[in-house]
Amino acid sequence: MSKSEGGRAMNIPWAKPYLDEAESKEINDCLRSGWYAMGPRVKQLEETVKKLVSVKQTVAVNSGTAALDVALKILGIKPGDEVIVPAMTYIATVNAVLYQCATPVFADIEEETYNISPADIEKKITKKTKCIIAIDYAGQGAAYNEIQKIAKKHKLYLIEDGAPGFGGKYQGRDLCTFGDIATTSFHMAKIFTTIEGGMVFTNNARYAEAARIIRSQGEDPHKKYFHPRLGHNYRMSDLHAAIGIAQLGRFAKILNKRKEIAGFYTEAMKNTGEIKLPAVRKGDASAWFLYPVLVNKRDKVRTYLAERGIATNVSWPMPVYRQKFYQAYKHKIAPVAERVTKSVLCLPLYYEMTGDEQNYVVETLIKAVKEA
Ligand SMILES: Cc1ncc(COP(=O)(O)O)c(C=O)c1O
Repeated sequence: MSKSEGGRAMNIPWAKPYLDEAESKEINDCLRSGWYAMGPRVKQLEETVKKLVSVKQTVAVNSGTAALDVALKILGIKPGDEVIVPAMTYIATVNAVLYQCATPVFADIEEETYNISPADIEKKITKKTKCIIAIDYAGQGAAYNEIQKIAKKHKLYLIEDGAPGFGGKYQGRDLCTFGDIATTSFHMAKIFTTIEGGMVFTNNARYAEAARIIRSQGEDPHKKYFHPRLGHNYRMSDLHAAIGIAQLGRFAKILNKRKEIAGFYTEAMKNTGEIKLPAVRKGDASAWFLYPVLVNKRDKVRTYLAERGIATNVSWPMPVYRQKFYQAYKHKIAPVAERVTKSVLCLPLYYEMTGDEQNYVVETLIKAVKEA
């Protein structure tokens, strides 16, 4: 806890799920129902989300990482295949490629959206390339018009890792509906949460059927203890789904509030030359999972904020190929990702954030940047 200069005690997290009586009620109803593992509530969550994002098939799983693993398995990605991934992403995107014993190939990111660069994807395609994974950094869609064209031209699969994107739109179309298969995460830091959880989205009924089989030990969903293929235990529980069902009731409200806070940040800092603000492509609606700014001496600025009760998030501190484990993989330097990971700082953003807290973040950040 720290005091602002006006004497207010501040303890501002970078993210905070919005949970209240609605979640308690759904959890209690689930507990009283006598069914807690994957069952009717998971089905209800899948059906509701399906309508929300206008996709034909949704399959709930127990994490965004599981969703990515399922997606790559459905598409038959195998050892020796190359999968093009953004150099700047959460490690889960790339780990899922290694789970298939396939080879991740890192493409650089765009200067403005920090999403995978279509021009660099083209440069990274070889005879072994089978798939592209794009993420929706901070809640904004990757350049799907261009990426889809590349995928089509080179006959590559496309996966949208929409872990940060759920709730956003790219050129009017809902995120988590792009590519052959899209995935998301419902981890507790996300805008919409089941605490831990994830989902697979597709318009292909065969893929959805395969996802249901893989998530439940490879079992035929219509024939208990018959296993046509290898699978995992990636099932979401009904208790987790109950939380999601409660969240869905106020998802629009949550999205609006995040947009409002992002709008406030942008307006309040638009004239501060030293802070690079996030740019949203014309025609897009970011889900505002994160509000990423670029600042010099990021770590110093971050410490200054932390000492004054403001938590921030660094998504992410280095390109994935610099992580110890990934250094064994051949890679080319991604100059934009190198630069952005050195200066990116994601500001606090959550539903219950007060006007006072928002003002305090802006005032303190401006001071931090001046003093750094
Ligand atoms: C881009 C990206 N992909 C995948 C994941 C993995 O999701 P989960 O933590 O639910 O496994 C995350 C989580 O933050 C993410 O940011």
